[in-house]
Amino acid sequence: MKKISIVTGASSGMGLEFARALAARQIDELWLFARRIDRLQTLAAGLAAEYPALAVRPAQADLKGREGGRVITGLFEAAGGRGAAVIDTLVNNAGVGTYGRFDTTDIDRQLDEIDLNITSLTAITGACLPYLAPGSRIINTASLAAFAPMGGFAVYAASKAYVLNFTMGLAAEMEKRGVRVIALCPGSVDTEFSRVASEGVREKVLHGKPPAEVVRHCLKLLEKGKKIAVMTPKWRLKAFLPRLFGRFFIAKVTMYTEKRPSKADLK
Ligand SMILES: NC(=O)c1ccc[n+]([C@@H]2O[C@H](COP(=O)([O-])OP(=O)(O)OC[C@H]3O[C@@H](n4cnc5c(N)ncnc54)[C@H](OP(=O)(O)O)[C@@H]3O)[C@@H](O)[C@H]2O)c1
Repeated sequence: MKKISIVTGASSGMGLEFARALAARQIDELWLFARRIDRLQTLAAGLAAEYPALAVRPAQADLKGREGGRVITGLFEAAGGRGAAVIDTLVNNAGVGTYGRFDTTDIDRQLDEIDLNITSLTAITGACLPYLAPGSRIINTASLAAFAPMGGFAVYAASKAYVLNFTMGLAAEMEKRGVRVIALCPGSVDTEFSRVASEGVREKVLHGKPPAEVVRHCLKLLEKGKKIAVMTPKWRLKAFLPRLFGRFFIAKVTMYTEKRPSKADLK
């Protein structure tokens, strides 16, 4: 039976680092998804050269909504379906943010964000269920934003709260099947996230940690059977603050202290 790992959002940032890390495992195939196929192909070529026994399959896909689930189901069926393939690691990592107030941000961008961060992640997980076996692993990239509502980042924080809570429910359900599930909840990571979320207004995530370090830490905790990965003591403190001060207070504080620039601010 073929052992397959899957990484969504593998064309940059943490997804790219997950792909590099998972390629080193004893697997037969590594499926990489994103829209920028040129980036995936470059990554795949590098990994194929480094790991000649590994089949790296880059796939161009806009995973938003239910499409991601359909794409994955189709690929598994093409690989022989149930009984022919088993998942080693599924990394549900593709995600976007939208900087700016809800009332000044284009509603379609925010709905697209929900379609990717929530619907797609759920659909892909569902599509993978038949291919999970004891030893399979699921990593869902949530965020530190999952622990608190945030003014100026309201839809994103709410979408990541969904990811965290869904992942914990799933972890409980999967325990008896021998499937390990973890939610990755990083604070700022040095990726293309800010550029996309601000539509180019902020080029870099401020004070971002290296994505490779965050990914390494997550994989280490997954091995230990932990359910949530929050890498630094400062991030862990931030995750705890809403419990001390309440949700509304934290939403207001984050709105004023962690200003996230958007195109609407420039008008
Ligand atoms: N960076 C941070 O500070 C931070 C902190 C906490 C959590 N996160 C989360 O970490 C995850 C990875 O983000 P990142 O920080 O590594 O940012 P990134 O460098 O912008 O990576 C995002 C990835 O998602 C893919 N993607 C976006 N829209 C997509 C779509 N419609 N269909 C398929 N793929 C899509 C992008 O590829 P294409 O554009 O090529 O499609 C890219 O590979 C996200 O879930 C994000 O919410 C980030």
